[in-house]
Amino acid sequence: MKIISAEFDRSAPDLKGCPNWNRPEFAFIGRSNVGKSSLINMLAERKALAKVSVTPGKTKLINYFIINGSWCLVDLPGYGYAKTNQVQRADFNEAVADYLEKRENLRCAFVLIDSNLPPQPIDLEFVRWLGGVAVPFVLVFTKADKQSSSSLEKNVAAFKKILSETWEELPGQIMCSSKTKSGRSEILGVIDESLKTKRGE
Ligand code: GTP
Ligand code: MG
Repeated sequence: MKIISAEFDRSAPDLKGCPNWNRPEFAFIGRSNVGKSSLINMLAERKALAKVSVTPGKTKLINYFIINGSWCLVDLPGYGYAKTNQVQRADFNEAVADYLEKRENLRCAFVLIDSNLPPQPIDLEFVRWLGGVAVPFVLVFTKADKQSSSSLEKNVAAFKKILSETWEELPGQIMCSSKTKSGRSEILGVIDESLKTKRGE
């Protein structure tokens, strides 16, 4: 898929502030600093479409980027920035929970997990919560450029093992790096497939 145009549209504080249109949306969610905004820039091939920061908690609003005039990448505020390490619905962000549970335009959520860390309780809690929401999602393991592939695979395998203790079927998984652009074609492939099918098919 070619990205011909990528434009910032708006920042919505909550679900009510989301646009009233029928463009399909693909959302990026994960712990603060996991690389959501960097990944959006990498996918769109734009250096500074979404704001990247070394300080966690940079993205505080639901940010909309329109791609090729017809569909959207949505940058969501990260979770895990609050002091608590327990994900309750309201703990990770009421607006994000509302968006993921109720936004009809949402076709697929990409859940970003730092591939350099062993499974984090907050990510596991979040993924388990999302499993109860009727939205398709894919796990995206980020920052794959930072370590040897054997240690990355160890972290990914450990994450999958814990999930498979309670789930029969695991979601899809993609390894990526915004630095080397690995995983870009796989993520765009998921989006492309989804755009070809109508919602609910
Ligand atoms: P919040 O908006 O605060 O929730 O963070 P975010 O998830 O949007 O993360 P962001 O894209 O701002 O990146 C956080 C930090 O990680 C920045 O310093 C990035 O340069 C770095 N980073 C992001 N992706 C990668 C990657 O693929 N590889 C490496 N090495 N660093 C990355
Ligand atoms: Mg961000």
